[in-house]
Amino acid sequence: MEEPKLSTNALIVLEERYLRRNAKLEIIETPAEMFWRVARAVADADALYGPRSQVAATAERFYQAMAHLEFLPNSPTLMNAGTPSSQCMACFVLPVEDSLEGIFDTLKLAALIQQTGGGTGFSFSRLRPRGDVVHSTGGISSGAVSFMMLYNAMTETIKQGSKRRGANMGILRVDHPDVREFVTSKRDRRALNNFNISVGVTDEFMRAIEKGEKYPLVNPRDRSVWEHEDARRIWELIIQEAWDSGEPGLVALDTINRQNPTKHLGEIEATNPCAEEPLHPYEACCLGSINLNAVVTGPPEQRQLDWHKLGELVDLGVHFLDNVIDINHYPDPRIEDICRRNRRIGLGVMGWADLLFQLGVPYDSEEALSLAEELMGFVEDRAVEASVKLAERRGVFPNYPGSDYDRRGGPRMRNATTRTIAPTGTIGIIANCSAGIEPLFALTYTRRALGGRELKQEIHPVFLEEARRRGVLDDHLREHVVATGRVRNLPTLPEDLRRVFATALEISPEWHVRMQATFQRHVDNGVSKTINLPQEATPEDVESAYRLAYELGCKGITVYRYGSRPEQVLSLEGYC
Ligand code: CDP
Repeated sequence: MEEPKLSTNALIVLEERYLRRNAKLEIIETPAEMFWRVARAVADADALYGPRSQVAATAERFYQAMAHLEFLPNSPTLMNAGTPSSQCMACFVLPVEDSLEGIFDTLKLAALIQQTGGGTGFSFSRLRPRGDVVHSTGGISSGAVSFMMLYNAMTETIKQGSKRRGANMGILRVDHPDVREFVTSKRDRRALNNFNISVGVTDEFMRAIEKGEKYPLVNPRDRSVWEHEDARRIWELIIQEAWDSGEPGLVALDTINRQNPTKHLGEIEATNPCAEEPLHPYEACCLGSINLNAVVTGPPEQRQLDWHKLGELVDLGVHFLDNVIDINHYPDPRIEDICRRNRRIGLGVMGWADLLFQLGVPYDSEEALSLAEELMGFVEDRAVEASVKLAERRGVFPNYPGSDYDRRGGPRMRNATTRTIAPTGTIGIIANCSAGIEPLFALTYTRRALGGRELKQEIHPVFLEEARRRGVLDDHLREHVVATGRVRNLPTLPEDLRRVFATALEISPEWHVRMQATFQRHVDNGVSKTINLPQEATPEDVESAYRLAYELGCKGITVYRYGSRPEQVLSLEGYC
């Protein structure tokens, strides 16, 4: 079996956690065997809908797409498909009911999910607030944040024995009486270290800020008004904390629910840990990403997008992820039920920054936004078409009756949703491409990985190639790139090169948000994006980004001001 061509970084990552091991913890499969294990296991679902004879051909196609790093499913699929665990989903949302039994039931389920490499998101908005009565004991409740601490401790305890570091999302509605405590809950940097937190904002709240009004905080236990809060004061607190530590992010609950095609199942209250997947309670989702480096053709000076190949990869991705729903081993019957009934999948792209480099388009340009629009619009049309075609053979998703598609005479879909832009934090390393739709953080950087093994990245190959082709590559340039990670500040370099090879902190927050919003227009789930800000950014910069994201229809927003968190995953080499 020919081994796929993998970078050193990819091999390190695969050896750390992905390749199967025996009881003595020795690695017992090669990367090629891993891709075959996954391809065969996922293709097997074809036999549920047609002759078994077609499984081998499907497995071959899935294998080729993965081994050539053209399409990769999310990490749990690579780790677990075709193994006894077979839990393939990266994203889960679990409800937290206002009772000790409910809280601990969900805690247990979250532990089991994290053990398999899945991430868990929760809304704590149903919990009665701190100081409210507990009838059974005659005592008073310790509030929503205290239970988040409990969940955090669980993750801390099990993370050593899990497939990867457990990740949680904690969401609290902005009209929950504990909102202040929640917003400031990460001031102590060690508290809630296994949580991302986001405030669930509503249209009513955003209007109240504009008008300078108060808005009611409501006790979820009996819907009584707890007190009235000044919207601007809460907003300013959110902005200040986000400026200080990057959190809380925002999740736009009304935007999410307006666009959710399965409204008839009730409200969506939460998202997965990186916020790109809003889900119903107990719902899970499997993600997969197309590597955009794989859909570029032509010599360096005439590179273009291979739309035909992109279309084929979208077809393959939808087919693959729809199959995952059937072969997946679900950790709970309630999760299995809603997953099988909605068949929600999240196909997206990664390597967007690489693609822009290859095409010579600056990330912060109208041209890049138009290309994003065209590219993701194409993926949207093709993914819907692929899902409709699957429905012709396999049937519509069981919750289709009563869905928006059904009520509005829309397409007969196999899947309630089809598109998500994932962070691709690890599969991007495996595919050796830039993460999701993020700009490069630097033209060279180090990344701290699991187990403390440091991964070094070379200077970006497209930059090297382009600089060489233009005759400007010399030792001085190399040294500058290695020392600072960027070239925009190098006046000796031709202007167009400096524009194209932009890095995250050189791109203004507004362009980051506009890029996120452009992709969001063609994505029915969410878009993972970090709005990077330089260290000297002000709270007003954070506020502008939050407002713009909301106004442009983003489903959520996360900012990160360089240097504001000590435990940065990415660090610039010599950044000053
Ligand atoms: O690249 P990979 O497939 O490993 O994951 P990602 O695209 O970076 O993240 C996708 C989702 O996986 C996240 O939003 C989380 O739901 C989950 N995740 C997790 O639970 N724990 C992690 N350490 C990383 C991701």
